[in-house]
Amino acid sequence: MPHIMDRLTAELGLLYGGDYNPEQWDPSVWREDARLMREAGVNLVTVGVFSWARYEPEPGVRDFAWLDEVLDVLQAHGIAVDLATPTASPPPWLGIDHPETLPVDRDGVRLVAGSRNQFAPSSRVYREAALAITCDLAARYARHPAVRMWHVGNEYGQVDFGDEAAREFRAWLHDRYGSIDALNEAWGTAFWSQRYRDFEDVLPPRRAPYLVNPTQALDFRRFTSDELLACYREQHAALREAGVTAPITTNFMGFFPGADYWRWADAVDVVADDQYPDHADPRSPADAALVQDLMRGLGGGAPWLLLEQAAGATSWREHNLPKSPERMRLDSLQAVARGADGVCFFQWRASTAGAERFHSAMLPHAGPDTAVHRGVRRLGTDLARLHPVIGSRVAARTALLFDWESWWAAEEPGRITERLRTLDQVRAYYRPLWDRGVAVDVVRPGAALDAYDVVVVPQTYLLDDDAATSLRAAAEGGACVVVGPMTGVADRNAHVLPGRFPVRLADVLGVSGEEWVALPDGGVPVTGALVTGTPGKGSAHTHAELLRADDAEVLSRFADGHLAGAPAVTRRDVPGGGAAWYVGAVLDEPLLAAVLDDALTRAGVPAAVPGAVGLDDVEAVVRGDVVFLLNRGGETARVAVPGTWTDLLTGDDVIDVVDLPPHDAAVLHPAQPRNQGTGDDEVH
Ligand code: GLA
Repeated sequence: MPHIMDRLTAELGLLYGGDYNPEQWDPSVWREDARLMREAGVNLVTVGVFSWARYEPEPGVRDFAWLDEVLDVLQAHGIAVDLATPTASPPPWLGIDHPETLPVDRDGVRLVAGSRNQFAPSSRVYREAALAITCDLAARYARHPAVRMWHVGNEYGQVDFGDEAAREFRAWLHDRYGSIDALNEAWGTAFWSQRYRDFEDVLPPRRAPYLVNPTQALDFRRFTSDELLACYREQHAALREAGVTAPITTNFMGFFPGADYWRWADAVDVVADDQYPDHADPRSPADAALVQDLMRGLGGGAPWLLLEQAAGATSWREHNLPKSPERMRLDSLQAVARGADGVCFFQWRASTAGAERFHSAMLPHAGPDTAVHRGVRRLGTDLARLHPVIGSRVAARTALLFDWESWWAAEEPGRITERLRTLDQVRAYYRPLWDRGVAVDVVRPGAALDAYDVVVVPQTYLLDDDAATSLRAAAEGGACVVVGPMTGVADRNAHVLPGRFPVRLADVLGVSGEEWVALPDGGVPVTGALVTGTPGKGSAHTHAELLRADDAEVLSRFADGHLAGAPAVTRRDVPGGGAAWYVGAVLDEPLLAAVLDDALTRAGVPAAVPGAVGLDDVEAVVRGDVVFLLNRGGETARVAVPGTWTDLLTGDDVIDVVDLPPHDAAVLHPAQPRNQGTGDDEVH
């Protein structure tokens, strides 16, 4: 099926560039920038993300002449523009003249201008002003030949507890529940005398004397995500109405807690993401891969864009280690391997003033004769050689379930342990798959699972009937389904489901539980068939569950403490050929890996590159018919990859084996048989 990005990438190749903030520079610098961009292989820049105060220095005034010139300069150098609506950072005068446009925090403090994101998503005045500037930009540039993509707002995530938010929250609740009785029921307001007489009495979960109602908090998160999405949607619609035909998107932030990207994904023409993995964390390549697989999942497998990353160090962590050009290259190729059709940065030229003056850029303060910029140029050359991957997809036989609502509900305070974190679990289940080179699609609970041989459910706290039905169907249809703890605990209102847990899955898992148990510091030993490493010993920590195997084999048991002798890990052979594992604890890494190995082996899911050897430190991903090999280690890796290939990065032939220097990569394309299909065959 054609994708809206196809035309752009067919013309430009893989997209390459970054945020460009020309308003920070003199026009003479624009020309130098365009020249240097061109030399670096840049073909797309995002312009105008923070330009509102420059466009509209006073209410109602417009100054677009400078942007006309910027676009002309870029166009003259063959650089396409992703034009932003500048609505993430209104000019200070908006908040001064209309304080209700400013967001209010949980404690009732109104935030002021002087940073960015100083807008209240529910403020009518803000929404009108944002739409007005968007419409004027669109009227002027909808058909501008340099503008090939549109970027609405920036990293939507603003939370507001103010009065206008309260008004819109009530309207949202009215739509959801229809009557105050239904809301009272859904929120369980019989508890602590919280019953509401009318929607007018309902508030956002502002600071209260003690814990707030968890369903109120959950609904406010749902509402906030939807309200931000409404801001996005109305600008998207205004752009289309003005005649924009180019792709329109906004930049996501990976596993960002403030927006439910499953609900956003349909609203963007192409999924785009900002990724700043902490390269000081040795596990960050796996965690970044997970985010990239999520982005692919959000787009239903279609190509996505890495819209921002750092060329070197970030400046917003407490201590920002440098990122080597080699690491930057590997991370960029990793994104392409996992489905990105574009690799961009924040930002092109390093700012000399402002809060991000020490954030790295493609063009550092010290200029082009720098290691960072040489790395940028090298990457430009690399990406230009990767034409064959454009538009192609990653095929996976393993699915991993992730869901924002479950994440939100699972982490409301007032639970057995606050140390059980959904994202920790998701990452823990993903890492062994990454280590083994298994291709994974991140999917939403309730999605069709027929295409998968292995389905991994690290922790889906809210499990509705549809999601339970699709998991059951997967296991009965022959898949291996691995379910982690605290899954299927509650319904969509976050009410704990009465009965032995996980109520909606206990039959297919063949196991049921009765008590959630916080484990003492130091964890508890686990024994049993899957325990590897020190013979007979593994451990669980943080959280465990008191389980009873009703119709399942017990693979591991707790060896000590409150749960001594009870099942820790079970497996049931499901009629129909599948199998279902239940993991009733947070397991140590080798033990969890053993559980996943058991499922992968049963399902016969191979590593990404069948037959490849020598991948210990090498991340291997297959996209379309191209094999990406990324050496994450400090030693040369000799990788055996049966076949005859061309390394797209070097043009070299590769037959059966490739040597990868430390932190280097190969991108192997099946070699074309020479002279194939040409009438010239006999001549040579
Ligand atoms: C985000 C923002 C950028 C910039 C970078 C770097 O991704 O979108 O404007 O602030 O972070 O910190």
